[in-house]
Amino acid sequence: MNSTGGNPPSLAVSIGGLTLKNPVMPASGTFGYGEEYAPFADLNRLGAVVTKGISLLPRTGNPPPRIMESPAGMLNAVGLQNVGVRAFVSEKLPYLKQFDVPVIANIFGEAVDEYAAVAEILSRAGGVHALEVNISCPNVKKGGIAFGARPESAAEVTAAVRGSTDLPVIVKLTPNVTDIVEIALASESAGAHALSLINTLLGMSIDVERRVPHLANVTGGLSGPAVRPVAVRMVWQVAGRVKVPVIGVGGIVDAASALEFLIAGARAVQVGTGQFVNPGTTLDVIDGIEAYLHRHGMKGVQDLIGSLQCNFA
Ligand SMILES: Cc1cc2nc3c(=O)[nH]c(=O)nc-3n(C[C@H](O)[C@H](O)[C@H](O)COP(=O)(O)O)c2cc1C
Repeated sequence: MNSTGGNPPSLAVSIGGLTLKNPVMPASGTFGYGEEYAPFADLNRLGAVVTKGISLLPRTGNPPPRIMESPAGMLNAVGLQNVGVRAFVSEKLPYLKQFDVPVIANIFGEAVDEYAAVAEILSRAGGVHALEVNISCPNVKKGGIAFGARPESAAEVTAAVRGSTDLPVIVKLTPNVTDIVEIALASESAGAHALSLINTLLGMSIDVERRVPHLANVTGGLSGPAVRPVAVRMVWQVAGRVKVPVIGVGGIVDAASALEFLIAGARAVQVGTGQFVNPGTTLDVIDGIEAYLHRHGMKGVQDLIGSLQCNFA
């Protein structure tokens, strides 16, 4: 018998007023709008579904090649290809609404007004439970990382989205900055209910025989296990400084890697590239966290969050 008295540990967490039955969700852009994954992973078991980034108008993204395998990860320069917010509402959202799982819509704009317009349309649509504001994509010329790289513009986008929605606003940060804590604090001050980090790290790969870049976009975003130590470090730094919940993303492929983020201070986690190897990764992570809590006699995931012992002095 452990200290839970035989009761199953609670996996529930709350993010900006939204209660999730467990802290595990897919990362934006690696799960489409859910349909492709439904045969492999019961969507009802997820803490939430996070959609592919949605913009005001449809986007075709960057020309191919736009994906490249790299050691312990991948480089992508998809360039935020998506159906646009109106088609999302009429064609994709009805599918997601049939599941008993909160929908977090990841949004993106080329200008501050566009972020606000997308937020407003999604808030009125019904069936979207929170917005994740991508100010961190490295693969587009306008918007994306341009907003996430400076505290002033991060705050401006956050405030504009907050002003156009009643939904919880999660701001997604880029690791491609000198000090992620200052961007996190600026977003929090501007009204973010939660922060997710990290997006991809800017990278590049070269075909040495042809002496050309592997990606048509030349540079791309690095994701997968290769980025995990950077993500864990940034989550730990940010969670120690902000009051709002942090969602950890970057290189999670199993329960052990998700646990690193929770112990570092993340209240929830997202699984991205790991799903391309095993589309059931999110479910394995949920089961593995539960087994860990049992094994350590913890009442719930709350006992784990931010439980890092860091006294090596
Ligand atoms: C193919 C691909 C597409 C992505 N598209 C988006 C996107 O639309 N919006 C976004 O905020 N992040 C996007 N990301 C970033 C992921 O959500 C995640 O932050 C990043 O990949 C790190 O996590 P991972 O190592 O588990 O993949 C994308 C990543 C990949 C690999």
